[in-house]
Amino acid sequence: MGRAMVRALLRAGHAVTVWNRTPARADDVVSAGARLADNPSAAVAAGDLIILSLTDYRAMWDILGQATSVLAGRTLVNLSSDTPDATREASTWARSHGASFLTGGVMVPAPMIGTSRAYVYYSGDHGAFATHRLVLAHIGDPRFLGDDPGRAQLMYQAHLDVFLTTLSGLAHATALVGSAGITAETFLPEVMRLFHAIPDMIAADGVGGLGARIDAGEHPGAGSSITMLGATADHIHASSAAVRIDTTLPDVIRAQYHRAINDGHGADGWTRIIDGLRA
Ligand SMILES: NC(=O)c1ccc[n+]([C@@H]2O[C@H](COP(=O)([O-])OP(=O)(O)OC[C@H]3O[C@@H](n4cnc5c(N)ncnc54)[C@H](OP(=O)(O)O)[C@@H]3O)[C@@H](O)[C@H]2O)c1
Repeated sequence: MGRAMVRALLRAGHAVTVWNRTPARADDVVSAGARLADNPSAAVAAGDLIILSLTDYRAMWDILGQATSVLAGRTLVNLSSDTPDATREASTWARSHGASFLTGGVMVPAPMIGTSRAYVYYSGDHGAFATHRLVLAHIGDPRFLGDDPGRAQLMYQAHLDVFLTTLSGLAHATALVGSAGITAETFLPEVMRLFHAIPDMIAADGVGGLGARIDAGEHPGAGSSITMLGATADHIHASSAAVRIDTTLPDVIRAQYHRAINDGHGADGWTRIIDGLRA
């Protein structure tokens, strides 16, 4: 990700200084015009805007713990994944060293960085965001979520929650149809039709309206009740067990619907299961 970001910034005409723990991984961006710093302090000292793209926030402490003397007056933008609390702790730490802090959640993979499809959630210091917005826009469309540095991280996690759950659903379903000889090559293009139809299936008047109803505590079940979907969840579970496909995922889904039914919400729509998750 870091290399894709550097290439996008270089393409936009910005001077970029890079540092990476394994220097050889910076070779191609150095060939493309980036300057390689000898150490983290030299990298930080080279500019006002410091962008981090690392495995987690632990890596940031490892790297910048040796560069605290040069942080004052600069802006740190950490585009790494971690928990919202780790993000908030990092913001407090950065401010204690005189630096501004922004959290970023990058919503596209490396090949899409710098394209019109790239977008990044930010939260934290609004003044720093306003100052650097145009530069950050070269990575992806910047979307600011407020001054809580944990918020952008949570938004990122929420998207990845959907993504990983979806991948697990695809993996399970592929194994399930495979038990009857339906190949993944046949199945995946078929099931993608369902993907594209989901917004219309769950909200004929648009997902914004669906969200407003959830926020208002309304979960109309006309046409697709929790009782019906719970029965379907039972069938998926039984079908999986019958062909010895792992039932961990169907177990979880079935439990969510049955909880809502047991709580007396069988006639409501699927969004009612959110209440059970919060409890
Ligand atoms: N890949 C994606 O599609 C994608 C999409 C959205 C967001 N993200 C997020 O972007 C971040 C980077 O992802 P990536 O795919 O670029 O991962 P990556 O290729 O594994 O790069 C991880 C980077 O972190 C460095 N690092 C890890 N631990 C370190 C430590 N203790 N000290 C110093 N450096 C350390 C690595 O240095 P070395 O090179 O020396 O190992 C490397 O530069 C992650 O937080 C990821 O969740 C990724």
